[in-house]
Amino acid sequence: MTENATLHTDMGESPSSWQDFERRLQAAKSVDDLASIEQELFGRKAGAMMMALKSLHDRNPDDRRKAAEELNTWKRQLEELIVQRRRDLASPSEEMLRSSDRIDVSLELPQHEHGHLHLIPEFIRSVEEVFGRMGFDIADGPEIETEEYNFNLLNIPRDHPARDAQDTFWLKTKNPEDRLLLRTQTSPMQIRYMQSHKPPLRVIAPGKVYRKDSDATHSPMFHQFEGLMIGEDVTLANMKAIMITAIRELVSPTAEFRFRTGFFPFVEPGLEVDMRWQGDEEDSREGKWLEVVGCGMVHPNVLKNCGIDPKKYQGFAFGFGVERMIMIKHQIPDLRAFFLGDLRFLRQF
Ligand code: DAH
Repeated sequence: MTENATLHTDMGESPSSWQDFERRLQAAKSVDDLASIEQELFGRKAGAMMMALKSLHDRNPDDRRKAAEELNTWKRQLEELIVQRRRDLASPSEEMLRSSDRIDVSLELPQHEHGHLHLIPEFIRSVEEVFGRMGFDIADGPEIETEEYNFNLLNIPRDHPARDAQDTFWLKTKNPEDRLLLRTQTSPMQIRYMQSHKPPLRVIAPGKVYRKDSDATHSPMFHQFEGLMIGEDVTLANMKAIMITAIRELVSPTAEFRFRTGFFPFVEPGLEVDMRWQGDEEDSREGKWLEVVGCGMVHPNVLKNCGIDPKKYQGFAFGFGVERMIMIKHQIPDLRAFFLGDLRFLRQF
């Protein structure tokens, strides 16, 4: 005799058939199993429960009430059990989770492209790391500057010819006396930092600068990082050592560079550092020098403008051109490539 046949004959009389259903529901292994047991149990036409209810008609009234109560209790219990089992089976068991979540770390990953930083922020991070190791603080300042910070306090008064070298984007302001501009250099950060910190101090300030300029080695927006070190006995020799360390660590240990005198109103003496362009042979710039750094001993007027006594303190400042250093490091012939957003270019690094 099949299980079903037993059940149908016992219907309504023996709770053992309902216990059987209960056991089978508990043991169901899938939502499908559960559904077929449910159909067997509660199917409208030939479901066991329906049959049992129908068979009540054959009972005498006293028996009938008792049996009906019993059946209803079973009905509720089994319905609840179905709901609960359906929920259990639908949410993955711990065991299933454990096996599906297993990651075989020895498998080779599929080859797909990983995102990475753009050359410029990546380089700036290494600048911060290299100077951080040499004890330099990192400062950040406004790209919209006042004429006072960008020029005057740096010993570049209005009629100074050095202003022409930095063709400036001026902002429209109501009062011509409070002229605002897009900073042409990160040098105003020297002033801001000296006004808010007491010597001895060491700081670098990386950021964007703007000039009306555009060709293979100039862009209207580019990046610089300014550096400043002030103390009681900071000398030009200290400056040279730091410049050389920075160039070797940031560009290459075998980078070729040269120091020569240069003029900047906010330093005295002023120096420039050129690096040798190392492109391939057809490149017309092969063997030529590219100016990468301006530096020098901070002018006493600048120290005075920041409330620092030039008789007690001295030091040096420098400004590096970020794009130019990267160009030399990776032999990139045209600086404008940095800003085109061309993935074929960016993916090479
Ligand atoms: N601010 C200069 C420029 O943009 C670079 C520079 C030169 C910065 C000499 C300095 C410095 O701090 O001492 O051309």
